[in-house]
Amino acid sequence: MNAHDKAKAISNRKNGGHRISALTAYDYPTARLLDEAGVDMILVGDSLGMVVLGFPDTTHVTLEMMVHHTAAVARGVNKALVIGDMPINSYDTPSQALTTAQALVQAGADVVKLEGGIRQIEKISAIIKSGIPVIGHHGMLPQRVLEEGGYKKKGKTEEESCAIMEGALALQEAGCFAIVLESVVPELAEKITAKLKIPTIGIGCKPKSGQQTCDGEVAVITDLIGSYPWFVPPFAKPQANVAGEISQAVRAYISSI
Ligand code: KIV
Repeated sequence: MNAHDKAKAISNRKNGGHRISALTAYDYPTARLLDEAGVDMILVGDSLGMVVLGFPDTTHVTLEMMVHHTAAVARGVNKALVIGDMPINSYDTPSQALTTAQALVQAGADVVKLEGGIRQIEKISAIIKSGIPVIGHHGMLPQRVLEEGGYKKKGKTEEESCAIMEGALALQEAGCFAIVLESVVPELAEKITAKLKIPTIGIGCKPKSGQQTCDGEVAVITDLIGSYPWFVPPFAKPQANVAGEISQAVRAYISSI
């Protein structure tokens, strides 16, 4: 299947009763394992900067880094849709956004993702017009963490909630095939999911009860497998303790030589 058909197949799963799964990967072996396990979408996220490269946030990530890791991931994937994340300062104008999207596709991404709502519409339109599918990213925007003074839940006020809904509708109108919704209050995630014709992929949008509010879910792989113990977001649901396994194996190795 080509990139367009893959993106369309994801989009068509809205209301299909079959939830959409997405995980991040940054290297060949992880991407290959995720693909072989059957995940629908693999995001080469700019969370790369934090959970692989040791930066305090995603604002240090460059296009060169993203291209390098997107190529490694793409080499490991046969079936899943590969999403290349556009890093901060790589889509300041429509023409820069297009050049960045083309570089990520050249590296092996099927589609690209960029952060923001209404103010990104011109850039998203330029990318889609060139034939590259786009997945939006709205709600809490990690690339704005410094301006915002931290990672804050979004949609708590009526004004913020309306602005996010408006942005989500604009992303749909611009032609995005799906939207990542990050850390918005569950009621708003549910409302957006009900209103949009394209799927919402949530992260940090569920209530404490765990009830689903989006059409699919994306997680950072290190949160899922417990391989980055120094920072675990409150909404993470680790299914393994890889950090513990590594420590144990290394201690066993040291005492065995
Ligand atoms: O970079 C990333 O991993 C992301 C997810 C949090 C959606 O954008």
